[in-house]
Amino acid sequence: MTVMSAAPVACVVVLLAGCPKTQELVQPEAPVVVEIEGSAAQGSRKSEKCTECHGENGNPTDSDRAKLAGQRPAYIAKQLRDFRDGARSHEDMTEKAADLDDQTIADLAAWYSTQMRTRERGEPRLAKPGKALYLHGRPDAGLPSCTQCHGPQGQGRDGVIPGGFPVIAAQNRAYFIRQVTSFRDGERANDENGMMRAVASRLSDDDIRALAEFSAGLSPAALVEAPAPDHDEDEPPQ
Ligand code: HEC
Ligand code: HEC
Repeated sequence: MTVMSAAPVACVVVLLAGCPKTQELVQPEAPVVVEIEGSAAQGSRKSEKCTECHGENGNPTDSDRAKLAGQRPAYIAKQLRDFRDGARSHEDMTEKAADLDDQTIADLAAWYSTQMRTRERGEPRLAKPGKALYLHGRPDAGLPSCTQCHGPQGQGRDGVIPGGFPVIAAQNRAYFIRQVTSFRDGERANDENGMMRAVASRLSDDDIRALAEFSAGLSPAALVEAPAPDHDEDEPPQ
């Protein structure tokens, strides 16, 4: 990830030290990663090999599997490159991504990002503490809100860093929990400047479960082409 300047390092330090406004995170001069344009039609055809694990259109019913539907294309592409190039590893995905070329990756990203993500229902008892953490973090303990990077609706955002910030709304819970736990334990370390690892290191198992529950309940509607969030005005849906 040599394309990045030092700016985001400063950002994440600021983020963890306090809980600044988004404007402090978004550096206008941050380099933009140019993504290859993908064809959703080609991606649809090429996605046949992915269906057994990621479901018909990127909505697997097994909670342990990642939903890809409605995910941001730049993020999908980055993950596939990371699996292929070894920055992220998992026995199944490392093998599946090994021979994907950049154009195939762009096509797959174009296809999955334009599929509608299915809804999940949050369990209110757990979702309530999850909501407080999601929206406010724990400023005293240096934990930023998730909103800062993933948006108030869990819609993520493009740009700022390579791959941008992923959609986490309506993600499968078991997958969500495994990812945040892997960041905490350092097993997943493909996050730019250790951003997610720094966040996850401040979360307990109970925190992670509650966050998974709250995020699951966020609406996947209008994820595609969601406008960049304005955290000062946007109200979360629940
Ligand atoms: C044998 C099962 C299997 C197949 C087939 C498979 N995947 Fe995966 N995929 C996984 C697993 C398991 C993970 C989660 C890995 C982890 O825990 O880090 C994953 C993760 C991903 C991610 C990261 C999701 C995220 O939110 O970060 C992407 C993108 C992805 N797969 C795309 C694909 C594509 C495209 C194909 C077809 C070319 C494919 N996968 C085929 C099992 C599979
Ligand atoms: C400083 C920015 C930042 C903050 C704050 C942040 N995240 Fe993240 N998060 C990221 C980035 C960047 C990634 C993707 C890393 C990569 O490129 O693989 C990520 C990835 C994730 C993933 C994995 C998504 C997937 O599909 O595999 C989950 C889940 C997640 N974050 C949850 C959270 C939660 C919950 C919070 C609040 C406690 C939070 N994040 C706060 C930057 C952040």
